[in-house]
Amino acid sequence: MPTIITICETCKREGWADRKVSETDGLKFAKMIEQIPTNNGIVSTRRHSCLMGCKNGCNVIIQDNDKLSYALGNFTPDVESATALVNYAKLHAESSNGQVPYKSWPDKIKGHFVARIPPLRKD
Ligand code: FES
Repeated sequence: MPTIITICETCKREGWADRKVSETDGLKFAKMIEQIPTNNGIVSTRRHSCLMGCKNGCNVIIQDNDKLSYALGNFTPDVESATALVNYAKLHAESSNGQVPYKSWPDKIKGHFVARIPPLRKD
């Protein structure tokens, strides 16, 4: 199973209403992430509405049924952050248990982890 990046498409960062745009920050971020090559199916993406971390948008989850999964937030919807997320997800996909050594983390991912979720079952 590939690593899946679940992107909250309804996140609105502080000041969103003042910017008078119709597109949410989360949708903008989702579109950016979806444009980045994900290595022939080892990483896939999907969108979801509200992941219940609204105060810390933009939010994503990096997950796999059989590995550690991670909730991340507080991303600015920019290409650098989107690229870092996809690159981290590729490393997650290549790992045996979802743990990626800190020294391999893309810089733009650091400081964005909210939670680590263990797999439901690991035989
Ligand atoms: S709207 Fe994105 S977490 Fe609630």
